[in-house]
Amino acid sequence: MDISEQKLIIAIDGHSSCGKSTVAKDLAKKINYTYIDSGAMYRVITLFAMRNKLIENDKVDENKLAHLIDQVSISFKFNKELQRHETFMNGDLVEDEIRTLKVSNNVSLIATIKFVRDKMVALQRELSKAGGVIMDGRDIGTVVFPNAELKIFMTADVEVRAIRRYKELKEKGENISLDDIRENVKKRDYIDENRDESPLRKAKDAIILNNSNLTPAEQLDWIVERMNEVK
Ligand code: DC
Repeated sequence: MDISEQKLIIAIDGHSSCGKSTVAKDLAKKINYTYIDSGAMYRVITLFAMRNKLIENDKVDENKLAHLIDQVSISFKFNKELQRHETFMNGDLVEDEIRTLKVSNNVSLIATIKFVRDKMVALQRELSKAGGVIMDGRDIGTVVFPNAELKIFMTADVEVRAIRRYKELKEKGENISLDDIRENVKKRDYIDENRDESPLRKAKDAIILNNSNLTPAEQLDWIVERMNEVK
């Protein structure tokens, strides 16, 4: 059977800003699977915590967040007009706000909290019940779906990732320096890899994709080749 007719789970993990979501979305479109952005979920909780003033000097008021977290509902919709996946918090469109550097600077902190992760993992499994899903994140192949049929671990050089993110944010009109972005990328790598709860690790059975020198089209072809090997 062709892979697009099977209802598989494809897990894409890896470092920040290495294009996981780009390739995951392209692949989902190509094989008609559902794309789920697990990072967006942690970003929504971060935005919620920021709006409720629960983060100060790199510290989260975990007690208050634990009390309030059930007030947050997260949903996704595909906007056909803009041809993009959009994230909603309690029904409000927050897609652009969750991508700002302010949220990026706080999200790794929120992602270290166990009760936040437990809640997000439960939601990720719930949304994937029907299969036919491509999910990107940090712990998808290790924790959320250890039995995923295909696991990719993506990475790219820090400088390459910083320049990509810099261009992306500039295009959106954010006024930031490449130095600040590079620091954010490095800091997020450090926190993601060194936290106690579900640190970023390559699953034993994941295949490494270093895309420093690949175009989006080339990396998509690479993944399609790997997919065709899963049968
Ligand atoms: O993929 P992203 O940059 O949007 O992810 C935002 C943050 O959320 C990132 O710093 C790490 C965290 N994250 C996580 O811990 N586990 C996931 N499955 C996805 C993201």
